[in-house]
Amino acid sequence: MRKPAILVTGANGEMGHGLIRALSQSGGQPIVGLDIQEADAGLKPALTESIIGNILDQNVLDSINSRYEISAIYHLAALLSTRAEFSPQIAHQVNVDGTLNLLSLAVDQARSHGRAVKFFFPSSIAVYGIPDGISKSEIGAISEDQYLFPQTMYGCNKRYCELLGVYHARHYQRLAADAGTFRVDFRAIRFPGLISAVTQPAGGTSDYASEMIHAAAEGRPYDCFVREETAMPFMTMPDAIRAITELMDAPADEVDQRIYNIRAFNPTAADLKRAVERHFPGAVVNFDVDPNRQAIVDSWPSDVDQSAAQRDWQWKPGDDFDSAFVRYLVPAIKAH
Ligand SMILES: NC(=O)c1ccc[n+]([C@@H]2O[C@H](COP(=O)([O-])OP(=O)(O)OC[C@H]3O[C@@H](n4cnc5c(N)ncnc54)[C@H](O)[C@@H]3O)[C@@H](O)[C@H]2O)c1
Repeated sequence: MRKPAILVTGANGEMGHGLIRALSQSGGQPIVGLDIQEADAGLKPALTESIIGNILDQNVLDSINSRYEISAIYHLAALLSTRAEFSPQIAHQVNVDGTLNLLSLAVDQARSHGRAVKFFFPSSIAVYGIPDGISKSEIGAISEDQYLFPQTMYGCNKRYCELLGVYHARHYQRLAADAGTFRVDFRAIRFPGLISAVTQPAGGTSDYASEMIHAAAEGRPYDCFVREETAMPFMTMPDAIRAITELMDAPADEVDQRIYNIRAFNPTAADLKRAVERHFPGAVVNFDVDPNRQAIVDSWPSDVDQSAAQRDWQWKPGDDFDSAFVRYLVPAIKAH
């Protein structure tokens, strides 16, 4: 007999660590983790099974399908933006084909157990692409449907997967109404840059914020790869995890927009440097701009409109820029 479970792909990543901890503390169904890397020892107690496998491997997914009755999929596995620019074809396979595989698994599951499968997809502000010559300050806080012209492979992948998710939700919702059998309840958040005190970032273009803070905490000098005046939205990882659980807990009829912007603060790189110098005396931060990574951040908005998330599932960030350092980053990094 198949065992009830929720599935988290990319379980061993930055977000997977926080999400699995939060899901296991909330005491819901057993959690199955899937990642191409072995889960860290600290993560394993929270998992009923930790599968080392590739989301592109149909045998792995068939095995999960045959052994578990899945009520929710948190599909976090991906190649992040900087890595995706180096290996665009592999990024397309992992980010797009992999997501389609997981959506198909959700359809198979809903069809076999006759209930909706909730599907969480972590999208990104990389889906936006502001063309040269358009002033970000004139645009202000960007809404979910403006400037959807991603300029990176990662951004293209994320935008297409948002559309695939909405397609699966709409298509199978219609069938569910006809036959009353199955449905994919797709929900996505477009995250800003995420800052974690616990894990070091790897391969994202917003990594300069986390890298600057972790380098200062470890007493290492840091060369920031974007210009001082560069601004983009950020939030802390605990806020991002809370947003995921709140969106997934919201009643289905209140989240029919399906794709939501959120953010907590949008400092410039110079603001980050000043905060780091204040909280870690002796920190050394220099600016050594990488033109490729700078161009990517330049195409992203400096702020996002999160009014739909506030309206539909009462989203509210827990930390502003100052309290993110005082309440979370500094104590958690020092304790870690
Ligand atoms: N961290 C951020 O700032 C940020 C911002 C916006 C969106 N996101 C999205 O959130 C999700 C999680 O991000 P993260 O920061 O935890 O990234 P991460 O790189 O830390 O984790 C991704 C995990 O996916 C796994 N993975 C990669 N390819 C795989 C494959 N083919 N099969 C199975 N597992 C595979 C990796 O081993 C890794 O553990 C990603 O989808 C990312 O695009 C992250």
